Amino acid sequence: MSDRIHTLSGYFYEYQKSVTEPENFWARIADSFYWRKRWDKILKWNFEGPSVKWFVNAKLNITENIFEKNLFTNGDRTAIIWEPSEPGESARHITYAELYREVCRFSNVLLSKGIGKGDRVIIYMPMIPEAAVAMLACARIGAIHSVVFAGFSSTALSDRINDCEAKAILTSDGNFRGNKKIPVKAVVDEALEKSSVETVIVCRRTGQEVTMKPGRDFWWHELINGASEKHVAEEMDSEDPLFILYTSGSTGKPKGVVHTTGGYMVYTKYSFENVFQYAPGDVYWCTADIGWITGHSYIVYGPLLAGATTLMFEGVPTYPDAGRFWAVIEKHKVNQFYTAPTAIRALQAYGTDPIEPYNLDSLKVLGSVGEPINEEAWRWYYTHIGKSRCPIVDTWWQTETGGILVSPIAGITPTKPAFATLPLPGIQLAIVDAEGNELTGNSVEGNLCIKFPWPSMIRTTWGDHERCRQTYFASYKGMYFTGDGVKRDHDGYYRILGRVDDVINVSGHRMGTAEVENAINEHPLVIESAVVGYPHEIKGQGIYAYVICDMSHRTEENLINEIKETVSKIIGPIAKPDKIQIVPGLPKTRSGKIMRRILRKVAEGSLDNMGDTSTLLDPEVVEKIIAGRK
Ligand code: PRX
Repeated sequence: MSDRIHTLSGYFYEYQKSVTEPENFWARIADSFYWRKRWDKILKWNFEGPSVKWFVNAKLNITENIFEKNLFTNGDRTAIIWEPSEPGESARHITYAELYREVCRFSNVLLSKGIGKGDRVIIYMPMIPEAAVAMLACARIGAIHSVVFAGFSSTALSDRINDCEAKAILTSDGNFRGNKKIPVKAVVDEALEKSSVETVIVCRRTGQEVTMKPGRDFWWHELINGASEKHVAEEMDSEDPLFILYTSGSTGKPKGVVHTTGGYMVYTKYSFENVFQYAPGDVYWCTADIGWITGHSYIVYGPLLAGATTLMFEGVPTYPDAGRFWAVIEKHKVNQFYTAPTAIRALQAYGTDPIEPYNLDSLKVLGSVGEPINEEAWRWYYTHIGKSRCPIVDTWWQTETGGILVSPIAGITPTKPAFATLPLPGIQLAIVDAEGNELTGNSVEGNLCIKFPWPSMIRTTWGDHERCRQTYFASYKGMYFTGDGVKRDHDGYYRILGRVDDVINVSGHRMGTAEVENAINEHPLVIESAVVGYPHEIKGQGIYAYVICDMSHRTEENLINEIKETVSKIIGPIAKPDKIQIVPGLPKTRSGKIMRRILRKVAEGSLDNMGDTSTLLDPEVVEKIIAGRK
């Protein structure tokens, strides 16, 4: 663990090195990994293409760095602690040696089904250890995994299957949610009605009945039975894709963010060890779902590369009651706990009674991710969960960044509520104004960009490189644009202010307003819609939809419910609008552009100053919208 930062001056020293000599800096970090062939050059890049290559021509397999490199020393250590949804069911403790065997066996299963290097495999599974096995087995044979959050609908799933032309799907019969069994395989069946996927492998979890299509669908436990425990990992180039993860943007269609092998490996391990100050023997718990980037980088890859014990939780924070998180921390003596502001706010609403019965003394570090954490939630978390002795790491990053870019180093960087504080070594931030001029010095506010490549950054968007260029590299010349607004205060600390594009962040889930509008518009009686975010006490942002409809066939209430159902069916329940207002028209300029600024103001209830409405085609529509406000 020679790459560990131990002091604040050490952090500043490393940061300085990483900026003045980035190649030497990353070469030193990368040296502690196992490469089958070392790189010819550390970095080749330009942001115009964009074209970014780290550890050029190096050969490796990321799973060899989790297993073979360490098994002699850590084979008996627990890799995954799995806590089931039902508190009465036994937890599972899986050692590195056991996980290695399972990954090898499942690698052989995949190969036996004709799946190999470069093939895309969709993973649509609940939070069970087999989901991690599935990811690692894909990585081991060089197949590109694309995990789809198991809460997405069949339409959303089928869009992703088709976009990446998946060859296989790894799934389960069902998923436990509270005391309910949710169908999972049935959703896959629906998604596959219009697709040519050759193989579906189904892991049994809930025991609920499923339909198996002969020749296409196979049971995980049957295939794995008798599969060899020996498997030699496929040799991958440092820049071979490791996975695709779909995420929402400001256009209607989610894009497949592509991460590659070498750089992602180096950065996720480095950032994990440093941000959380993980020490051998600690139990680390990240409550995210593996369907999101946080689950990829900080449940699976980062912790396992670091030889950590990572806890995977199948359930929800409020089942069987609002004390569940705290019960799990006590039960497994969790040392680092990493969750989302939306979960903190939801639990805060239950007061401190649910915390009382539990001993949280094991906690050393608390983490937050996914959206800006408001000061009140930060203080509650700090006081009642961390008992005023655990540093909070407010980690800012994105699906595209692959790993945490701005965050305190736990216990080392002095924290400030609601501030992500300082960039990690290697991360060169820039704040720019609308014209793209960099704002230097402190006490400035603008758009957050990154000036220099880092190892785990997005390489392309699957099947559409131009879209990657347009979205991230075209707004400001020579820089990666994050889509976030940011402030650098008088101390040089960074505070993320939220998205400045048409992306909303609902309970830490990224949603494109255009994506939700497209789904709403699928309802046959909808003529047009406009969606904006508004401040929501628990979710951070809620979804407010203004909809023009043909009202001659339904009551307003029925129509609103039907629209919600339509969105749920097309994207998933997470995208259901919180409020739907039926409107006679939308505030449009003469050129037909919707003035979202006005819609946002109405949604958030700031009705006194609508700004200049003189360019509107029909200014009266604003009065009508205000009158019908939800
Ligand atoms: O707006 C920022 C917000 O979440 C966006 C990225 O979303 P996603 O790709 O789904 O990844 C979430 C998990 C890394 C960012 O553009 N965001 C994420 N973390 C923070 C945050 N906003 C403020 N503070 C954070 N710590």
